[in-house]
Amino acid sequence: MRSSVAAALAAALWLAGCAAPPDMTRSPSSGPAERPLLPPAGTLAVDAPPSRDRPAALNRIVNPRPASTAVLAEGAALYRIYCAVCHGADGGGDSLLAEYLPRLPDLRSPVWARRPDGRLYGVILRGGFRMPAYGDALSEGERWAVVHYLRTLGNGDGQ
Ligand code: HEC
Repeated sequence: MRSSVAAALAAALWLAGCAAPPDMTRSPSSGPAERPLLPPAGTLAVDAPPSRDRPAALNRIVNPRPASTAVLAEGAALYRIYCAVCHGADGGGDSLLAEYLPRLPDLRSPVWARRPDGRLYGVILRGGFRMPAYGDALSEGERWAVVHYLRTLGNGDGQ
């Protein structure tokens, strides 16, 4: 009697589409003493420990967005939201938080104009020693818009 109830229940569940979950022993995973699954070629895990060639690779990336008026306006708006609180409205470091941030760089300095696009992008993505990372807050396109805007800070606007 009990077994026929169990069988009826199993049949009802099967009919309702509640089949047993897939067999995990047959799913694609690495077993003990096997090499872990490798990431697809040409990709890099975002949470991987920094590799030694990563800064060099970043330095070679060129800003893929054109520096149009709209992109510069987008970068300026994002800068005001995320960066001005520390770096000041014009990048000169005149901000409320400046007194708590020793060695806050002057972003209007020609030093930054000579930095490759990817270097500035990397600073926004991962932050620095005291500077927070903005990789989670800004999308890829937004980070590049801010890079374009950083290039305008040394041009005498608002200095
Ligand atoms: C909480 C304060 C703070 C905020 C917000 C902040 N920064 Fe910074 N930033 C710093 C400090 C401090 C440094 C100096 C290096 C360090 O200590 O990390 C720095 C350094 C930099 C540098 C020079 C990095 C280098 O190569 O040495 C750049 C470029 C820069 N910031 C851009 C930005 C941009 C763009 C934003 C907004 C997306 C931003 N920062 C937001 C504090 C801040």
